[in-house]
Amino acid sequence: MSLRTVVLLSGTGTNFQAILDRRASGSLAIEPVGALSDRPGAPGLDRARRAGILAIAVSRGDFPDARSWWDGIAARLRALSPDVLVLAGFMRILPPGLCREYRGRVVNIHPALLPKYPGLDTYRRVLAAGDRWHGTTVHFVTDDLDAGPRIAQARISVGRGDDEDTLRARVQACEHVLYPRVLEWMSQGRLAMGARHAILDGSELTEPIVFEEGQLL
Ligand code: GRF
Repeated sequence: MSLRTVVLLSGTGTNFQAILDRRASGSLAIEPVGALSDRPGAPGLDRARRAGILAIAVSRGDFPDARSWWDGIAARLRALSPDVLVLAGFMRILPPGLCREYRGRVVNIHPALLPKYPGLDTYRRVLAAGDRWHGTTVHFVTDDLDAGPRIAQARISVGRGDDEDTLRARVQACEHVLYPRVLEWMSQGRLAMGARHAILDGSELTEPIVFEEGQLL
């Protein structure tokens, strides 16, 4: 089954690129049918164009209010009939209507070991707290910000020499392996969203699947 996939992004798009690269290597059966951004200048949209994928910018400034802007986004998405929406650095909170329309078919990657550190500035907060571990989480998107059913995490140890930049680089290197892997599970029909938890190979994930940094890189 080749999943019709739309990626939503606001920035660099390195996760998007990792997904495209994995697909190009033949091991990920998805069909990227579009990349949509709230920022026309997002470098991630150039990655789509270079790969021959439809790049769509829907700027808030072109609409009179947030509601019509989201309606515009929903219409562009609907026209692509996606099986799955992949949020990859999309810096907007999906409204409840879209979450409902694509229930169980929207995934996000968040740079923290959720439920710790939802929201922004995770690297700074982890360092300020003196945490020993950091990482990233792939989860289903629901109305609750960064709190939908967790699927998988990559975990890295925080060393004394780490700063925000080194942590970000290590976490993102893990993300670039982890996210395509989760999409592979989806494309193989192994992953679904249950009422409370993600379901992988028929088993409820009361805890996400955790990969250590060394298992991914
Ligand atoms: C990723 O680190 C992801 O965890 C967060 O935003 C970042 C996006 O990076 N949600 P990129 O645009 O994929 O390079």
